[in-house]
Amino acid sequence: MSRLPIFRARSLVILAWLCTAILVLIAASSAYDRSVRSSSPFIPASVANHGHSAPSGTCPPPSSTTPAPANAPGVARALSPAELLCRPAASSADVPKLLHQSWKTTQLPAKFQKWSDSCRQQHPDWEWVLWTDDDNLRLVKEHFPWLEETYLGLPGNIYRADLARNLYMYKFGGVYADLDTECLRSTPDGLEEYSIPFSGVNETTGDAEASAKIAIFGRMGTDMTYEQSIPNAWMASSPGHPFFLRPLEFAHDELEKSTSYLRQLLWKTPNAEHMTGPIALRKTIMAYRYSGAEDEVVLLPGRMVYPYNWKEHGDFLSVCSAEQETFNATVCKEKLEVKKKGSISITYWSHTHKGAGSDKHNIELISADK
Ligand SMILES: *[C@@H]1O[C@H](CO)[C@@H](O)[C@H](O)[C@H]1NC(C)=O
Ligand SMILES: *[C@@H]1O[C@H](CO)[C@@H](O)[C@H](O)[C@H]1NC(C)=O
Repeated sequence: MSRLPIFRARSLVILAWLCTAILVLIAASSAYDRSVRSSSPFIPASVANHGHSAPSGTCPPPSSTTPAPANAPGVARALSPAELLCRPAASSADVPKLLHQSWKTTQLPAKFQKWSDSCRQQHPDWEWVLWTDDDNLRLVKEHFPWLEETYLGLPGNIYRADLARNLYMYKFGGVYADLDTECLRSTPDGLEEYSIPFSGVNETTGDAEASAKIAIFGRMGTDMTYEQSIPNAWMASSPGHPFFLRPLEFAHDELEKSTSYLRQLLWKTPNAEHMTGPIALRKTIMAYRYSGAEDEVVLLPGRMVYPYNWKEHGDFLSVCSAEQETFNATVCKEKLEVKKKGSISITYWSHTHKGAGSDKHNIELISADK
């Protein structure tokens, strides 16, 4: 009879010691994480303080890099990544008339080719550059050498492709669009009410140096609390906008956390959406806006670049999602009344990645020419 309470008391003491030990370990581990981070700031001071003073690349470009695709009249001029990398850094607050897209190689699946052509047709006085995985690595090595370890340490190519679009915006500015984006009208026309200055190569508009830089993203839907409500499938910016350093820092911190030993025991590696994709983008935009930074971040209403909202338009899934066998872009655009809404573009959410790799079935679907 008298042994039971003593036994209970001992168990409680042991339990309390165990809990304390675990708490101390967690605290020590995060203190260690913090000390590692503060002793070596991730973004080099020269980049963080002076905006973008990138070194010049290897120019003229070595002949082994991707050549520019053939040019056709009446569409955006194709520019090779190597040619772009050789240009002196632009520093105006204008948004350059430069469209960036990215795929593993220069061989685009049939539907991507068609949609990419639609974007070039809507922007005949622009330049268009298609970045491959190899080009992205070259961009990192030449212009963001401090990012290389993080970039290569990411768990898969989709993470790297996500991160690279921030680099296009930071280094060159312009517009980035995923390849499952069909362009419906010219971007400057669509954004007329926002008075955003767009300029072609060797042109500038107004007193560009004096005005603040601008970065533009689209909302999907109206629920701002939804963690995927700011996709990273479309973005536009002046070159050198400091916001684009934030997602790089965020990915670096997430990667460090996920590789620290104790965290590995407790957490899985975050998926791409959390680490480099839309969830990360929304978090970094919110933090940037709260920090009172002077350069602007504009969020367009959903109808502008994401008229098909996969979260709320369940009824349109069968015709609007490129993942469906029944997908029909013509019917989708009619149902969503994209003309009436003045949409600039529409993303059909082809989801060609799964986990850290490719989704073979979805790649087959967008490779079918129908
Ligand atoms: C822009 O200006 C540079 C230097 O004057 C010139 O070499 C280049 O061809 C121009 N580019 C275009 C597209 O006009
Ligand atoms: C889409 O649907 C329309 C109307 O039903 C049809 O005429 C057209 O052939 C379809 N397009 C495709 C690519 O299936």
